[in-house]
Amino acid sequence: MPRLVLQPYLRVRFSQTRLEYQPWHNAQAPARPRDGPSVEKFKRGGIKFLPGQTYLWGAVWDVPHLCDGITDAVNEMTRPTVRSAYDEWAATYDSDRNETRDLDAVVTRAMLGDRRYRRALEVGCGTGKNTAWLAGAADRVLAMDFSQAMLARARASTRASGVTFAQADVTRPWPVVTGCADLVTCSLVLEHVEHLDFVFTEAARALAPGGRMLVCELHPFRQYLGKRANFERGGVRVEPPAFTHHVCDFVAAAARAGLTLLRLDEWWDGDDRRAPPRLVSFVIEK
Ligand SMILES: C[S@@+](CC[C@H](N)C(=O)[O-])C[C@H]1O[C@@H](n2cnc3c(N)ncnc32)[C@H](O)[C@@H]1O
Repeated sequence: MPRLVLQPYLRVRFSQTRLEYQPWHNAQAPARPRDGPSVEKFKRGGIKFLPGQTYLWGAVWDVPHLCDGITDAVNEMTRPTVRSAYDEWAATYDSDRNETRDLDAVVTRAMLGDRRYRRALEVGCGTGKNTAWLAGAADRVLAMDFSQAMLARARASTRASGVTFAQADVTRPWPVVTGCADLVTCSLVLEHVEHLDFVFTEAARALAPGGRMLVCELHPFRQYLGKRANFERGGVRVEPPAFTHHVCDFVAAAARAGLTLLRLDEWWDGDDRRAPPRLVSFVIEK
């Protein structure tokens, strides 16, 4: 369950048919009430509610029967989606302190720098941290991301010719023809993707025989300790929805897609290996 990131204030009110909610920022007029779940959902859960009664989130805690039923609904309504979180993070993604992002840049160069590529497909390019480097390593790069704001930053910072950007969701069919790429890269994206199989299947489809894929992710050992991508806005910690994939999940998903694992590496900050590795990377071949 994603951790709760609340609006500064939230009014909730049951009508006869629905739960309505109204984001309400201090010193601003309340936003228009929005429709939440049908009251049937609460009835089914045995939750008592009083139509017409308005609660201010926070005060809800004092109404236990309501609190029980409403927490999930409010979580669902207020949690950021991955895309909206990255749209918001884009403004500071490059300037925030972020050792995971910085180590991934080292990994990408170390794992891919030994050869030249014809067509590289970068999945979840973000602000283009790796795109400019890929542009030097490949004749053509197609860099995809579903966050408009991250893509806008990537476009602005990547001057190299031969790079095309596309807004695309990697959990939907990729906008590329079969066998078009000899490199697919995917850095720090799969933490936000619940089901790995589709991504590996699309990568296998996009790759020409002999083509390579690099996947680099926050190491699940860190996730076991509660670490995940996050940033701060107005003193509030925002955590885009994240999923834990074990090392064996990546290996199995690649195998199911007909891909072969060439190497698996773990990456620490500097030489200090007392803490769990920060990143895990997979080089995979079609
Ligand atoms: C932590 S950033 C990494 C960006 C870049 N690869 C890097 O290493 O700096 C994760 C990126 O993945 C993108 N992303 C997450 N889920 C995605 C999806 N389903 N489709 C497309 N992009 C996605 C986000 O918008 C964000 O730009």
